[in-house]
Amino acid sequence: MYKHTDYYKTYGRIMQFNKNKKEPIHRWYPFVEGYSREFIQSIVAEMESTDLMCLEPFSGSGTTALELQNCGIPCFSFEVNPLMYLIARVKMERTYDLNKFDYWYDYIVRERKNANVQLITEFNTLYQGDGKKKWNYDESVAVGVEKLKSVIETIPEEIYRELYKVALASILLEVSNLYRNGKCLSYKRDWKEKKLTEEDVFTKFDDKIKKEIRVDISNLGYTTNVNNKIRLYNEDSRIGIEKKIADNSIDLVITSPPYLNSRDYTDTYMLELKTLGFTKNYNEIKMLREKTLRSHVQIKWKDQSSVNNKLLYNTLNELEQASKDTEAWNESIIDMIRLYFVDMQNIFKVLYRKMKVRGRVYFNVSNSAYFNVLINTLEICASIAENEGFKVLEIRDARNLKTSPQQKEKVEKLLEGVIVLER
Ligand SMILES: C[S@@+](CC[C@H](N)C(=O)[O-])C[C@H]1O[C@@H](n2cnc3c(N)ncnc32)[C@H](O)[C@@H]1O
Repeated sequence: MYKHTDYYKTYGRIMQFNKNKKEPIHRWYPFVEGYSREFIQSIVAEMESTDLMCLEPFSGSGTTALELQNCGIPCFSFEVNPLMYLIARVKMERTYDLNKFDYWYDYIVRERKNANVQLITEFNTLYQGDGKKKWNYDESVAVGVEKLKSVIETIPEEIYRELYKVALASILLEVSNLYRNGKCLSYKRDWKEKKLTEEDVFTKFDDKIKKEIRVDISNLGYTTNVNNKIRLYNEDSRIGIEKKIADNSIDLVITSPPYLNSRDYTDTYMLELKTLGFTKNYNEIKMLREKTLRSHVQIKWKDQSSVNNKLLYNTLNELEQASKDTEAWNESIIDMIRLYFVDMQNIFKVLYRKMKVRGRVYFNVSNSAYFNVLINTLEICASIAENEGFKVLEIRDARNLKTSPQQKEKVEKLLEGVIVLER
């Protein structure tokens, strides 16, 4: 066991994205699986100097790099999902001009009414249609969304085209018949009765623009020149970091990888990916999934590799035993667990090479449970990192997460924490 430090009070509230929903710019897209800007600030406050070069291997909606940019600290970041990548790009853009913003908003409002759209898609249940039992958008909602999308696509200035695309992305779930239900999308209980119109879509879009984005743009004021947008890559970090980052160049890593909870971000954000053309067909969805960290069972992984680690080995044995007595909802669960740690090892390996001596890593992750067996992800990751050469300074215990009803019998709660490493 590594040294655990009680951070329940300090981190309890700030390990969630929720707090960002009231913060300028951070609030532009209601992300779920992130942490707050205060978490980043608390780490910066621990540093002896702010003359740092940082790296974020799993950018998500860009909380780390945006907040570091606000503190005047450069940060490279990697994100495999094109939707998250766009959101982070848009939030880090520094040159918005209120007059131009208003000009393009007026353009959208003027053009959208008469935009000529057709509801054509390769995704069976995206739009309402004859003979379908379920659909993500009612027809009039789909027309409203498509009208906005088609007008936004004609904006010639990239930064405004991207900004308005994110604004549209941020209201899609609300106007659809779906909600985010943990790791998947489910139909809202009243979806058949709830009838929204094209006008409702426009109103929600306008509210987002007027009540949040315009307010934040009119208050923009930068005190430093740091631009982390130019350091953001839409790439698989397992490959990208090696190519893009110089050895011995990084002082600080702050990150939160996908947890070992079988959540596939491609699934969770499927509505936005399909609607906005990030993935055009089922094959593109599969290709995107293949590039993600192996924290889910949406792909049948064929890789036989494993990590030589005693704690992991014991856990995998325990899981093999327990799985014999329990019916699994997916036969690839144990492969996923094994390969998740192979990915973790690769990440620690490359981070070790890229970091300067005495550089720090803050790695936010949580434990998991399958077949009523606890997977001590925090301890296993710490031990893998140590094998790669890092010194484990401590594990900061942040909060306890609920286990799923199937795991409750033996595993009551799951610890979420922050592993602090030194190169
Ligand atoms: C827990 S989220 C990070 C949230 C982030 N801290 C925030 O506040 O927005 C993990 C992210 O890792 C991304 N991801 C998964 N596999 C990846 C890979 N191979 N390379 C880069 N990013 C990946 C997911 O798409 C997801 O956005």
